[in-house]
Amino acid sequence: MSQIAVIGAGYVGIPTAACFAHLGHHVVCADVDEARVAALMKGEVPILEEGLPALVMEGLQSGRLRFEVGAREAVRDAEFVFICVQTPQGANGAADLTVVEGVAREIAPILRPGTVVVNKSTMPVGSTDTVARALRSGGAAHDVGVASNPEFLREGQAVHDTLGPHRVVIGCDDTEVAVRVSELYRDIQAPVLVTDPASAEMIKYASNAFLATKISFVNEIANLCELVNADVREVVLGMGYDPRIGFEVLHPGPGFGGSCFPKDTFALLHTAQGAGYDFELLRSVIDVNLRQRALVVEKVRAAAGGDLSGVSVALWGLAFKANTDDLRDSPAVFVAERLLAEGAVVRAFDPAAGDAASVRLPGMAIAADVYEAASGASVLVLLTEWDEFRWADFERVRTSMKPPFAVVDARNLLDPAAMRRRGFAYQGIGR
Ligand code: UDX
Repeated sequence: MSQIAVIGAGYVGIPTAACFAHLGHHVVCADVDEARVAALMKGEVPILEEGLPALVMEGLQSGRLRFEVGAREAVRDAEFVFICVQTPQGANGAADLTVVEGVAREIAPILRPGTVVVNKSTMPVGSTDTVARALRSGGAAHDVGVASNPEFLREGQAVHDTLGPHRVVIGCDDTEVAVRVSELYRDIQAPVLVTDPASAEMIKYASNAFLATKISFVNEIANLCELVNADVREVVLGMGYDPRIGFEVLHPGPGFGGSCFPKDTFALLHTAQGAGYDFELLRSVIDVNLRQRALVVEKVRAAAGGDLSGVSVALWGLAFKANTDDLRDSPAVFVAERLLAEGAVVRAFDPAAGDAASVRLPGMAIAADVYEAASGASVLVLLTEWDEFRWADFERVRTSMKPPFAVVDARNLLDPAAMRRRGFAYQGIGR
């Protein structure tokens, strides 16, 4: 079993650290945020991830998982260092590697000879070289290796996806180093693809861009369905039985959000531009996505009779998808901001993201539950596909609402016929 340091205790770092400890490795996970580290030392996990608190506790109790403030202490005995820090979108759309390079320079003089530094965060093509250069300029031993090993985990299912990945991708020009990295995953059942760093980095971006393309595609089909009186749910069902198409990532909605798809599609577009290539399809995927969010606002405005000023609107869901408390690039936040800007009186409920949203959107009231949010509203907008919304007492919801009892279901979560029977003016997406 190996000594592993994980730098960055966030959405990628904590699951990575906890899962490696679960697999029997000795892991130190470091972050610059002292409060976060102190909480983690007590087993308190600052993000909503199914199964993660139990895994962190297991690691702490077995002694195989420790948390540390700062990268320097964490890497002292490490054979492998996983860089899991943020790579935010820079001003020009490119991924900003400032934090990554800072970490590499900081740890460079401390690393033991033969240590392998692994890029886990999503980093653009060429980043393995960038990290190698930063390590050298920071004074790392000449035999410190560098590899790319992108994560493909979905938020909310990080533990599941980390322990049961569809594939493990390792990008490294040194086969011996790549084999050492692959051995960390010995007990995981998944194909391992060893390739060059640029291809590994591209695999991550191409995968996310492809999934984003599926979403924008189905959103366009949905919009077209509305114009020709087709039901996109039936259409997707009929498409999905073809295994070449499949059912997954084909749900129309308010567009993709989160920390990955929006940022990664922009970054890939930027990479293409830098290489002198016009990635026309990807540009459209991004444009369609932005338009889709705006379309939800249009539906709400139309449902309110064309003018939102002074109209009471209830929002169900704020997180960018269900089972997460993450608001990053959430279509729901975009919709809320636009509704507030147009003068609507907005009251929202989200099972997990309410506290964060009240900081982010001070002009919006946060309700304690779905009923409080809906009470007195003329329009109810469902923006995140939390399962519990499905099971609300809609009789109670309707009696507390005001005419025109409009429901804009931006996730197609509810049954249109049942909603109309209950007296709602129901509208979904593409049906
Ligand atoms: C994604 C990828 O799935 C993961 O492999 C990658 O490593 C990181 O990015 P994540 O951002 O956690 O993970 O969420 P995902 O479940 O893929 O959803 C992304 C966005 O697309 C959400 O806003 C979601 O609501 C939206 N989406 C997803 C749709 O609108 N329709 C779909 O059919 C699927």
